[in-house]
Amino acid sequence: MSTDFLNVARLESGRSQFQVEAFSPGILLNDCFQLILSQAEEKGLFCNIEIPVDLPDIQGDCDKIKQAVINLLSNAIKYTPKGGKILLKAESYPEVIHIIVKDTGIGIPEKYRNRLFSKFFRVPGSERHAQGTGLGLSIIKRIIEGHGGEIDFKSETDIGTTFTIHLPISA
Ligand SMILES: Nc1ncnc2c1ncn2[C@@H]1O[C@H](COP(=O)(O)OP(=O)(O)O)[C@@H](O)[C@H]1O
Ligand SMILES: [Mg+2]
Repeated sequence: MSTDFLNVARLESGRSQFQVEAFSPGILLNDCFQLILSQAEEKGLFCNIEIPVDLPDIQGDCDKIKQAVINLLSNAIKYTPKGGKILLKAESYPEVIHIIVKDTGIGIPEKYRNRLFSKFFRVPGSERHAQGTGLGLSIIKRIIEGHGGEIDFKSETDIGTTFTIHLPISA
């Protein structure tokens, strides 16, 4: 997507300012889920969402965080073969929330894990599963770190991958 290039350029130049406001992460996550659901189901994936009812409001740029979550979900769809499962989940802690995107897809081989968030990096062979620029994860990382948060993942080849965003409640 050419918008990936624009987004990464804006984020790098500092021209992309965050529009900080209070928002409900539960509503945001439900919106993201609804946006990707038909695409996932068309591919023959089973999708679930688990959001606690008592999630606190977050201070941050709602649109940017939405972009990050949709990107993770779209990766989960791209790199999970038919019949697989995708779970979008949130957990609440005293000062952070966790946003978790879990899939039962192809996984990420151990030797590539330290390069995963690098600009333009794609695991060799990814093009067999889906097209991409290799920019999505670098954009997501910038957005989350720009909010004082962190992103990490666990993965097992042919078992699946789980990305976790740690987002402070007040940016
Ligand atoms: N959920 C996932 N399962 C397996 N591999 C993934 C997943 N998400 C990302 N990857 C790997 O990380 C690479 C970088 O991801 P990303 O920056 O979003 O690029 P893109 O989706 O454009 O290929 C992907 O090309 C793929 O090799
Ligand atoms: Mg991507």
